[in-house]
Order: sequence, then structure tokens, then C-alpha cells
Amino acid sequence: MYTLSNNIKIPKIGFGTWQIPPGEIAYKSVLDAIKVGYKHIDTAYAYENEQSVGKAIKDSGVNRDELFITSKLPSHIKDYEGTVKHFNLTMENLGLEYLDLYLIHAPWPWDEIGKDCSQGNVLAWKAMIEFFKAGKIRAIGVSNFNKEEIENIVKHTNFVPHVNQIQFHIGHTQNETVSYCNKHNIFIEAYSPLGTGRVLKNETVIEMAKKYNVTPAQLSIRYCLEKNTAPLPKTTSKDRMIENMNVDFKINVEDIKILDEL
Ligand code: A2P
Repeated sequence: MYTLSNNIKIPKIGFGTWQIPPGEIAYKSVLDAIKVGYKHIDTAYAYENEQSVGKAIKDSGVNRDELFITSKLPSHIKDYEGTVKHFNLTMENLGLEYLDLYLIHAPWPWDEIGKDCSQGNVLAWKAMIEFFKAGKIRAIGVSNFNKEEIENIVKHTNFVPHVNQIQFHIGHTQNETVSYCNKHNIFIEAYSPLGTGRVLKNETVIEMAKKYNVTPAQLSIRYCLEKNTAPLPKTTSKDRMIENMNVDFKINVEDIKILDEL
């Protein structure tokens, strides 16, 4: 477990559900993930699989308080009322009483990357702070935000996000955002820790994995842990789910440096 700035514990490795199709595939994947030991599940309204994720959580039989469930406000919702509405829709979809973590999915709509939504982000953030204070969410945060975008919401609310979930993997370490977040005690979650699969084809990664007697996926996930981030690997294969959790080894400092350079 890692500990967030508000003392909430978060399991170090989460199960990512981005690009897992809704219905039977998402249901079975999440059920398998919980069965093999994942306690931390990451979904989003925009993935359209919340209902399947919720059903799997319910059917898993695991106590709610042993699980850490994250969802996200769709990236195009940039007002207070829309945030309230979508949070309620997410809770209905998942069939849960509370969320462990709720994130603003992105600082701008995915089809208008880079658009200035500073005012809208503040409105959404205010609604999320209210849900947090009402105990409906145990921790709140953002995703895909850079330093300026975080500074904007903090300046207008005086409330620092607990988490920033960003794309983070070998070859894509977003150093400026990460060091800003580290300095302000904003925990980093690493989505696409395998670079959606691309990192696994890198020759240096393949060779180094052999040296540690692990797979390239295990080396990539371990790298995220060595950087004190929470990787959220995605897979629909039960064997790979197990493989991706089995990362109890250390990468030495020299090798970390080599990976940092990729
Ligand atoms: P699949 O779902 O068919 O297993 P990321 O988590 O960075 O988004 O990467 C996800 C991609 O990596 C998916 O295509 C997934 O395929 C693949 N993947 C996940 N775990 C492994 C693994 N242990 N070995 C090889 N490929 C993997």
C-alpha cells in the first residue's frame, strides 16, 4: 500500500480497464482480476464499462472495504451541475455507496486537446470537493493535468488534489509534472505502464528483463514502483494478470538510470 496525503491507503498496483469492452469481457476480466488478488480497480465513465465493473465487484464476494475503486468525470464535463449529474450516474452504474477515488479525466475534452477550460475545471473541482467532504468519495484528484492546470484549481479552491493519474512508463516519464506533484504531495498513478504494449518490444527492456529473470512486462511495472507511482496495467488474460502482480524484485540503481534514458 501507498498512503495518500489525506492518509488513505491505496494498493500499489491497480487493475486498469481502459479499452476493455463493456459486457461479458469487462465483467469476466474484473472478476478474474479480483479473484487473483487485485484490490484496486480503475475505471471511468468514458470507458463505458462501469456497469460491468460494478457487477463484477458485487459478484466477487470481496468486502467493499477491502477494495479500492476509482472512476473519472468525463473530460467534456466542465461545469458544476454536470459534475453532480455524472458523479451520480457513475455511482448508479457501479452500484456503489461510495468511491475511493474520483478524478477529473482530463483538463480538456479529448476531442479538443489543449483547449483552455480553466474556469470549467474549477467548477468541476468545487463539486468534487463537496462530494469528498460529504464522505461520498475518500480521495479526489485529476488526470492528465500539468503543473499549470493543477495550480489553477488549487488557486481558486485552496484544495490540493490527492492524486494525478498520468501516462507514465519507461520512455515516457513526464519529469516536470512528476517532480511538481512530488513536491506538493500529489500522488502519481501510472496509466499505460506498458506503454499500451509498445515498451515490451524495446530491445533494452527485453535484454534487461532476461538479466533479472522476469518478463518485460514485469520489468516495466517494477520500474513504475521504483518511481513510487501506482501502475495500472490492463489485460484481459488471467495469466498476464498474475504475471503483472508478481513483481517482488528490485531494479538496481544503474539499471534504473539506463531505463530513465530510454
Ligand atoms: P492483453 O489485454 O491482450 O493482455 P497498458 O497497461 O500499458 O495499457 O498495456 C496494455 C497492453 O499490454 C494490452 O494490449 C495488453 O494485452 C498487453 N499486456 C498486458 N499485460 C501483458 C503482459 N504481461 N505481457 C504481454 N502483454 C501484456
